Amino acid sequence: MTTDYLVLGSGIAGLSFALEAAESGRVLVCTKRQAEESNTRYAQGGIATVLDREDSFDLHVNDTLKAGAGLCRRDRVELCVRAGPDRIRWLVEQGVRFTRMSRNAAIEFDFGREGGHSRRRILHVEDLTGREVERALLDHARSHPRIEIWEDHMGVDLWRDRDGSGKARVRGAFVIDRRSGEVHVVGARATVLATGGAGKVYLYTSNPDVATGDGVAMAYRAGAPVANLEFYQFHPTCLYHPKAKSFLISEALRGEGGLLRRLDGTRFMEKYHPDAELAPRDVVAHAIDHEMKQTGDDYVLLDMTHLDARMLEKRFPNILETCLGFGVDMRHEPIPVVPAAHYSCGGVVTDEHGATPLAGLYAVGETACTGVHGANRLASNSLLEALVFAHRAAEHSKAALDTLPAPEEGEVPHWMHVGETSRSDGGPAGAPRETVMVTQDWDEVRRLMWNYVGIVRSVRRLLGARRRLDLLSAEVREYVLSSPLTPDLAELRNIVTVASLIVESALSRQESRGLHFVVDYPDRDDARFARDTILWAGVHPVMAV
Ligand code: SIN
Repeated sequence: MTTDYLVLGSGIAGLSFALEAAESGRVLVCTKRQAEESNTRYAQGGIATVLDREDSFDLHVNDTLKAGAGLCRRDRVELCVRAGPDRIRWLVEQGVRFTRMSRNAAIEFDFGREGGHSRRRILHVEDLTGREVERALLDHARSHPRIEIWEDHMGVDLWRDRDGSGKARVRGAFVIDRRSGEVHVVGARATVLATGGAGKVYLYTSNPDVATGDGVAMAYRAGAPVANLEFYQFHPTCLYHPKAKSFLISEALRGEGGLLRRLDGTRFMEKYHPDAELAPRDVVAHAIDHEMKQTGDDYVLLDMTHLDARMLEKRFPNILETCLGFGVDMRHEPIPVVPAAHYSCGGVVTDEHGATPLAGLYAVGETACTGVHGANRLASNSLLEALVFAHRAAEHSKAALDTLPAPEEGEVPHWMHVGETSRSDGGPAGAPRETVMVTQDWDEVRRLMWNYVGIVRSVRRLLGARRRLDLLSAEVREYVLSSPLTPDLAELRNIVTVASLIVESALSRQESRGLHFVVDYPDRDDARFARDTILWAGVHPVMAV
């Protein structure tokens, strides 16, 4: 199979790239499960952008830089913020129905507020923004004559070779069909990693099961640099309930006046930041973690009971209904909440066009590190960044298409997997690894990351995590070398890789900044660490799975 553009992932970044790139060529979108199943779909809050008369680009830029704790690239932030209104117009053209309200005798967008924002600027669709964006983009992509979508197909590795002058380039990817287990090689002029985040590296996460860091792991294995992976953002408020699987309780609730309380009813956020509940996300998550450790409680409370019940019903229908399903009526009782892993601020290093240093390879959305988020992403900047850089990547790759060679029939490599033909543990060649061993390692990685590499870190725990991850890596490598590749094994390989990259990045940053807090180095050290943490397989071989 060959195509012009191969897109791995079907969230806002992958689909908006696909729709724009399809103007100039054939696009194949490969997605691990059903196309709807992406991090985008679960985004509740919305999209931050400057469209209100009382707002300005400078204010949004400054809020982003302040949240990012000295590590945002100002040029990328400016570019992202200023492109916002155009991208919103494009989304409206695609049929996204943002919530509107009547104001000054006109119907205008309803702007929500979230932590770290000095103005109301969050466009939203009630509390189901991501689901509506995903619906609109997918409707168009599904009916587009030049876009093909392969569901249940997961990227395994990039197809990389060298051009005539010896420069590394990417020509497509190996993808596994989850249903048949077959691996296909897809050749493409341009390959786009839009696989979303890696929340499944942690035991508790707001992310869906598909978020296993596949894009970052594949890019790293192919020799692309990755950056700032120590800055894993924990969302301060996910529903605490044994069956809720970390259901997100949007920051927009605090934006509308929600208050955080200890179980005894006392407020605590004023102690930590002048903006209290609307402080940047790193501060709120850290404060909750600290309070829980001090009181020994398993959760804190988010209190909405003083707010107008009709406003809550209208503005947060999904959260209200979901909480009711778990026996919590937020109109009359506070919601039990805990922090959970939410968003990777680091990712594959890209330039201002979403291009990586490997020719033919782009990374967009949560998979990428564009320089916009720095050490702590400002709330609701993620969908904005995904839209802006997917658009720029589409423009760039369309212009570069003629210079990116189409793979010829004879060039396409065969999938060779050594585990199909040999088993180092004496088991029969080609027999799959026992599932229990794969699930055991999955659980171990996720628990280890939660306990040792969470909101508050110490050098001792990070070193312990490194030692254990080295053992797990060796074990997973042995599986990969001696069993047929299954989708579960491919995901395990990726979460072990990404976990190791997070730990290495965290160990190398000997200071505290933004989302990275280490008790041994509690202060920010601009003299030594006002820079990105870049890991690159050629120079920093973290592991060799
Ligand atoms: C939320 O609704 O709180 C999530 C928004 C975001 O992660 O930016």
